[in-house]
Amino acid sequence: MKKTVAVIGLGYLGATTAVALSLVGHRVIGIDPDEKKVASLRAGRVPFYEPGLDEALGEALATKELEFVTAHDESSHEVDVFLLCVGTPQSRTGLGADLQYLEASIDGLAPYLRAEAVVVGKSTVPVGTAAYLKQRLSSLVDFAPNFAWNPEFLREGTALKDTLTPDRLVIGTSDSYSEQVLRELYQPLTENGVPLVSVDIPTSELVKVAANSFLATKISFINAMAEIAENVGADAVALAEAIGYDERIGNKFLRTGIGFGGGCLPKDIRAFQARANELGLTESVSFLAQVEDINLRRRTRVVDIAVEELGDLAGRRVTVLGAAFKPETDDIRDSPAMAVAELLWAAGAEITMHDPKAGDNVRRMYPQLAVEDRIADAVAGADLVVVATEWRDYGLADSAELGKLVANKLVIDGRNTLPYRQWQQNGWKVIALGRNLDSALVGV
Ligand code: UDX
Repeated sequence: MKKTVAVIGLGYLGATTAVALSLVGHRVIGIDPDEKKVASLRAGRVPFYEPGLDEALGEALATKELEFVTAHDESSHEVDVFLLCVGTPQSRTGLGADLQYLEASIDGLAPYLRAEAVVVGKSTVPVGTAAYLKQRLSSLVDFAPNFAWNPEFLREGTALKDTLTPDRLVIGTSDSYSEQVLRELYQPLTENGVPLVSVDIPTSELVKVAANSFLATKISFINAMAEIAENVGADAVALAEAIGYDERIGNKFLRTGIGFGGGCLPKDIRAFQARANELGLTESVSFLAQVEDINLRRRTRVVDIAVEELGDLAGRRVTVLGAAFKPETDDIRDSPAMAVAELLWAAGAEITMHDPKAGDNVRRMYPQLAVEDRIADAVAGADLVVVATEWRDYGLADSAELGKLVANKLVIDGRNTLPYRQWQQNGWKVIALGRNLDSALVGV
């Protein structure tokens, strides 16, 4: 059944959600105080890089059922579902989440809320946040507001696909009316076979942090195995393949390298620990501190290898290929690639970076690092090349040609993405995290 939906917050989550919901037949009003963002979306331009989203935005705008505004207006009185899609960054004062944008969203929508409308949080939050926000909203209106939670699992790079055909939908409600409204909202997806799990609100809040904690743990697990492998002449990539055939383990999220980053996994596991602490349940998730430690150690490992190979890094020229926290995005928030570049820079190296999409973000935020737009220009004169994001361009790069440009044919593959036999044949010394490249048994 067609709904009128207000999407509050037009960042990654909000913009994608607005486009997706309008494409499946709802009327959508996207709201964000950032005038530039709104103007850009109105003009059919997504203000960040996400494959396929520009085209989908154009398609959605053409239906005339999608509009973008900088503030609530009269049409908010017609809204059936308010979706809160604002950010919950790590607080400046600690590990916990900063809820100020959610609070502002609640305060902003309250004057427009009809008793029949449902307010639904989508942002990732510490368990208990929904109850707090519902109470805040209740004090601003003179009826009992319908409040629900609906965590989002979209990944950057595949955001639209993850929103239109997610592995599952999770709705957290405390009344059957809200549950019904959300079931109707998502009917276009569920009738195509997307499973919907209906739970209570605290469970829905926990699902998201539990899922991200599990994923982070899986990555740190294989990276811990990589630490062992490096010391005993074993190969963590082959190990991951071997254990991954066990369906109980599965082969996804077992890619070893310089670890996880981005706007979600690192902040979510920190916020989870902070919340557990507040609840007096520190021990229940204390393993997440180790998950993070392992993750950070993989970054310093790259510097250790660089020093083992080159000695003092002062004045040595290091090229870091990749800046984004993963391929198919221009996002450098909490990026392992940037962390590695900064560590090498702090050790005295002169850094030149390359990234197919994130170069301008690096220029803006890291003026101390040089950035080149072509791989060849970035590696020219390098004493060491580090592959820090697994963009296809790097795997496809011509190692013979690049070899002619560098001062020293040494590459550290921090993402296990290079066809290393080819690089070796072209005279490069290749060191890949967690790998034993001398093993005759290991394939390309
Ligand atoms: C993540 C969750 O996957 C998604 O469900 C949630 O909604 C938001 O957070 P995202 O941050 O887009 O999504 O990135 P993801 O694909 O999960 O990758 C996170 C990080 O882990 C990246 O830095 C990636 O390079 C790294 N990673 C991933 C590994 O190091 N090894 C792997 O095997 C997988």
